[in-house]
Amino acid sequence: MDFKIAVLKGDGIGPEIVDQAIKVLKAIGTKFNHNFEFTEGITGASAINKVGDPYPEETHQLCMESDAVLFGAIGDPKYDNDPKAKVRPEQGLLRMRKRLGLYANIRPVTTFPSLIHKSPLRRDLVEGADFVVIRELTGGIYFGEKGRSEDLNMAFDNCVYTRPEVERILELGFEYAAKRDKRLTVVDKANVLATSRLWREIAQEMAPKHPEIEVDYMFVDNAAMQIIQWPKKFDVMVTENMFGDILSDEASVITGSLGLLPSASVGIHTSVFEPIHGSYPQAAGKNIANPVATILSAAMLLELSLNLMDEAKAIRDVVEDRRRGN
Ligand code: IPM
Ligand code: MG
Repeated sequence: MDFKIAVLKGDGIGPEIVDQAIKVLKAIGTKFNHNFEFTEGITGASAINKVGDPYPEETHQLCMESDAVLFGAIGDPKYDNDPKAKVRPEQGLLRMRKRLGLYANIRPVTTFPSLIHKSPLRRDLVEGADFVVIRELTGGIYFGEKGRSEDLNMAFDNCVYTRPEVERILELGFEYAAKRDKRLTVVDKANVLATSRLWREIAQEMAPKHPEIEVDYMFVDNAAMQIIQWPKKFDVMVTENMFGDILSDEASVITGSLGLLPSASVGIHTSVFEPIHGSYPQAAGKNIANPVATILSAAMLLELSLNLMDEAKAIRDVVEDRRRGN
């Protein structure tokens, strides 16, 4: 079959890790008789340098017309160290998420036997940990009204959620739990935040409609502790945008390396697949960055966007094999 894949390599190590994933996809194309057409678009700091915009309209159109988007990484120290910069690479990523309607970020966390010794946690705590973080991606504090007072001495970021936004992401949480071990942890800060109380209220309404799923509720500070202390107790975790950002980075520590975890952002239009790590500018061009997270993201792309299950499994099996040191 023919598939159109938009390729947004981005900044830092983005181009080199994406090139490796493309090689893998091409091999899959040959083996399973598919034709993947790859079209590159610009994004991030490299797009700012070229056209002054981290997510140009042309790139958006390319994503809209494609069957899936393979994404590298964005970010540049030039902007990290300049809080006053008006145009930032991250704005490109956020605009892409919003415009493509990517309301759910799915981050599976599994351990890698050959790398467990790299985890700062004890082997017996992390061995066999296997859970999914489902992060809401187009709402909350990331997208609420932001501002500064005239004298610049006060700043605010509003956190806003509406019922439909919460319902659709929780629904996805229930769906994932149903396909896995049937346990769903709703992470919030309902003891303090109004948005979290809305989340909890809606989750409590939805739970009886999914009697096969065991639901529990956890405050985010407690969840941050339990992820490290008992990582094996989790199955599916669902949470709002910023809590999910923080918890998913924290969860990656369990596996021993941030360089190994893939992610999928799904929603209304074309889905985007990317490693969870950043652009690692210090390593760019040195051929030392691990492309496995991007290769596993390509496997998620095959499965979730193109419905090519055997092909996705073929990639995972090879990665698994290498992980075991074969
Ligand atoms: C992520 C990243 C982004 C986020 C940044 C680059 C804006 O940390 O995808 O987790 O905060 O969502
Ligand atoms: Mg993050």
